[in-house]
Amino acid sequence: MNKKIRKILEAAIQAPSGDNCQPWRFAVQGLTINLYNCPERDQSLYNFQQRASLVAHGAVLENLELAAVEEGFKVSIILFPDKEQPELVAQVDLAEDVRRTDPLEEAIYRRCTNRGSFAGGKLNDTQTKVMISCAEGYDGARVVLATENPAKNQLAAIAAKNDWLVFANRPLHQFLFEQIRWNQTDTIRTRDGLDVETLALSRADRLGFPNLRHWPLVNFLNRFGLAHMIGRKAQQLCRQSAGLGAVIVTGSQPEDFVLGGRVMERVWLRATAHNLQFQPYAGIAFLLQQVREGGTGDLTLKSVAALRQVQSDMQQLFGLTDDEVVVMYFRVGEGAAPAGRSIRHRLDDLLI
Ligand SMILES: Cc1cc2nc3c(=O)[nH]c(=O)nc-3n(C[C@H](O)[C@H](O)[C@H](O)COP(=O)(O)O)c2cc1C
Repeated sequence: MNKKIRKILEAAIQAPSGDNCQPWRFAVQGLTINLYNCPERDQSLYNFQQRASLVAHGAVLENLELAAVEEGFKVSIILFPDKEQPELVAQVDLAEDVRRTDPLEEAIYRRCTNRGSFAGGKLNDTQTKVMISCAEGYDGARVVLATENPAKNQLAAIAAKNDWLVFANRPLHQFLFEQIRWNQTDTIRTRDGLDVETLALSRADRLGFPNLRHWPLVNFLNRFGLAHMIGRKAQQLCRQSAGLGAVIVTGSQPEDFVLGGRVMERVWLRATAHNLQFQPYAGIAFLLQQVREGGTGDLTLKSVAALRQVQSDMQQLFGLTDDEVVVMYFRVGEGAAPAGRSIRHRLDDLLI
C-alpha cells in the first residue's frame, strides 16, 4: 500500500468508538478507500440500528479527511454508495492536491477519553466559541454547550443517568463487564475493549470494582442504592467540569449519525487542541432513541421513564425539536492527563 495511504488510515483508526469496539474495516484500491461497518463488533443494546457504530464511522471519516488533506489530497466522500451493501458506509476518493495543514490534524493522536475528575474553573469565550462553531459548514448538526448554572447542573443530571442506567439494568451491566480488559495481557491479546486503566478508578474503587461484575451482587446492592450512588458520582464529575455539551443532528437516517460522528470528532479534536480534557456520555442518547422509536430493549420501567424525562428536559433546555436527535453528551474542562490510553487493532488486521 502507498505509504501516504497507510499514514492516512493509521490516523483514521485513532477514532473513538463505543467501548473501543472499533467496528470498521477498509478496502483500498489505488486512491479509493472503502470503509465498511462490522456489525458483529458491537451487538450491545446501545448500538440501536448500528447508530453508535455509525457515529464512530463519522469520526473515522473526519480523521481520514484531516490526514489526507495534510498529505496533499483532495477528498471526496460518498456515503452508502451501494444499496446492495448496507455495510459499505463510505467510498472515499482521493485526488492529488496541494498540501494544507489543519491544527485539528495534530490533535488526532492526542485525543483521548478522560474519565477522571477535571480541575473545575471556567471555559474562556474563545474555547466556548470554537467548540460550538464545530458544526458550522455541516448542515443538519449543531453543538450546544452549557458553561453556567442552572443549565450546567441540569445537563449534569441528564448525563449522569448514563452511569446510573448501567448499574440498574442487567443487559447494560453485562455488556460493560464483557468489554473490560482487566490486565495488560488481555488488552494486548484482544486489542479492543476498555482497558481497566482507562476507567480512572480510585485505589479504593479499584479493589471493590471487580466484585461488581457479578449481577446478583449488584442487584442486591441496588436495594441499598448502589446504582444511584454511581449516578451521583458521575453527576459530581459533570458538575465539576467547566462545560457540558451535546452534539445534535436533525433526522435519524444512517447519514445523520455519520454526520453527528464527524461533528463530535471535530469538537473533541478542538478541545484537545486547546489542551482540554473530554469525556463523552453516549449510551443514554442511543437508549433514548430506541425508547422513542418504540422499543424498551429490556430496560426497567423506571429506566424507560427516566429516558423519556431526558427528552423533555432537553426540549426545555436547548429547544430540542421532535426531528432532532442527540447523538452524544460530553463534559469538557481543564485537567490532568487521562489515567490511560486505549489500544487499537493493527491496521493490517483491518484491511480486506
Ligand atoms: C459512539 C460512542 C459512544 C461512547 N460512549 C461513551 C460513554 O457513554 N461513556 C464513556 O466514558 N465513553 C464513551 N465513549 C468513549 C469510548 O469508550 C472511547 O472512545 C474508546 O474506549 C476509545 O478510547 P479513546 O477515546 O481514549 O481513544 C464513546 C465513544 C463513542 C464513539
